[in-house]
Amino acid sequence: MSSPIAKKTKNSLEKVVIKSHQKLSHNNRIDYLSNLFIEVLDELDLAEIALLDIGCGDMSIAENLMQHRANIKATCLDTYPLPEAYANDPKWEKYVSFDGRKIPFEDKQFDLAILCDVLHHDFEYAAVILKEACRVAKYVIIKDHFEYGMVSRQTLRLMDFIGNWGYGVSVPDRYFSKKSYQDLLDTQEGVEEVQQICPIPLYEHNFLFNLICPGKLQYISILKNN
Ligand SMILES: C[S@@+](CC[C@H](N)C(=O)[O-])C[C@H]1O[C@@H](n2cnc3c(N)ncnc32)[C@H](O)[C@@H]1O
Repeated sequence: MSSPIAKKTKNSLEKVVIKSHQKLSHNNRIDYLSNLFIEVLDELDLAEIALLDIGCGDMSIAENLMQHRANIKATCLDTYPLPEAYANDPKWEKYVSFDGRKIPFEDKQFDLAILCDVLHHDFEYAAVILKEACRVAKYVIIKDHFEYGMVSRQTLRLMDFIGNWGYGVSVPDRYFSKKSYQDLLDTQEGVEEVQQICPIPLYEHNFLFNLICPGKLQYISILKNN
């Protein structure tokens, strides 16, 4: 991710990691995932879409989606308080900060919530966050990672380090396996998984990245709250 509000001061190593990440992967990742989300949204065929992007980071995905589709109105949620300097910035008007547990909105207030690479950053509370997402939205799209053993776990940790550490976002110890993700879904009463997409060849544009981080490490899961 690439959020200006995540961490105010960055040391030189953090700046180098951030620069490398932006050059190698960030923009491509945002474009790829936004296009994928648009395809999913088109299939859901909703008229007006009130969207909640939970763990929005720099809000690039929500903004991309609004640029692609005029019927989307996004609210963005993350755990960082908004710095004073952004208080009057129109770009950040749609941003709301919360405690990472209780989403400050009414039941079913949104048509859709997105949790894009968020749940693995708060693994212990994934069921709580997901329950909250399902409470406030009719549909929830989750984008996350699958690990298949030690090698893929360490690969994902390395990718997370490059993508997030520089911004002060913690690098997780582990990720969902297919089984532990299913276990998580089983904790969500009245919620149905309508589609799961895996693999997602997010890094197919870069031979080396694709080799290190193949598509089977990425998935999207679309949930419907019945
Ligand atoms: C890898 S970044 C993803 C940012 C953005 N969703 C994207 O895909 O570009 C993970 C984000 O999740 C946020 N996050 C972590 N735990 C969270 C929680 N419990 N509730 C909401 N956001 C959380 C972090 O602050 C960070 O912005």
